[in-house]
Amino acid sequence: MARLGVNVDHVATIRQARGGSEPDPVTAAAIAELAGADGITIHLREDRRHIQDRDLTLMRQTVQTRLNLEMAATEEMIAIALKVKPDCCTLVPEKRAELTTEGGLDVRLNLDSVKGAVQKLQEGGIIVSIFVDPDPDQIKACHKTGADYIEIHTGAFADAPDIGAEEKELVKIENAIKLAQKLDLGVNAGHGLNYSNVRKVAALGGIEEFNIGHSIISKAVLVGLDRAVRDMVELVRYA
Ligand code: PXP
Repeated sequence: MARLGVNVDHVATIRQARGGSEPDPVTAAAIAELAGADGITIHLREDRRHIQDRDLTLMRQTVQTRLNLEMAATEEMIAIALKVKPDCCTLVPEKRAELTTEGGLDVRLNLDSVKGAVQKLQEGGIIVSIFVDPDPDQIKACHKTGADYIEIHTGAFADAPDIGAEEKELVKIENAIKLAQKLDLGVNAGHGLNYSNVRKVAALGGIEEFNIGHSIISKAVLVGLDRAVRDMVELVRYA
């Protein structure tokens, strides 16, 4: 049975829009865990646009399941991870101008530096995963780094313009799972997965954990809005 890691970055994005203290992603993580999430994922970006260092420190103390830190393989982030010790670090590419992580890490191009980062994190007792496209050469490079897991980037599948293109992406993902298993790499997956497309990927089997954020937080806003408005109507009308 696959596990679900809930990415709460978007809760922090709403908080940062006002620069205040609500909504608190630490509280969101606790609610996600109470609802059955198997893990919590956060991305501490270099520009701190959503998750803050304080969120990571507090979640390390409060998350009861597993804390997965998405991060760029930089000296700054490696030092933070070694200090805070999340259960898992997922290495991702990071560009300042991007809206969200746009592609998998180019492990082939950066083999030595990624390998160095993997080793340092593992020496600190942290499980290491690498976010990669479902590309055989990238997966072989991940194996060379000694990483424990790959996280297959499902963005191309999620954004496929039609059924034919979607089917092609699904085959790539299926082949990526098989290759990773052959190389003894654990397999996670994520990006762009939602309530209508996740089952196709989950049905392939072999994926240990799905990391999902945008669709869950989007649904939470909509299904929670009715209750939130009712509570405010009550206060305004019956003051
Ligand atoms: N996995 C990784 C490595 C990511 O960077 C992200 C986005 O932060 C996700 C999973 C979650 O993607 P989404 O928000 O589209 O569900």
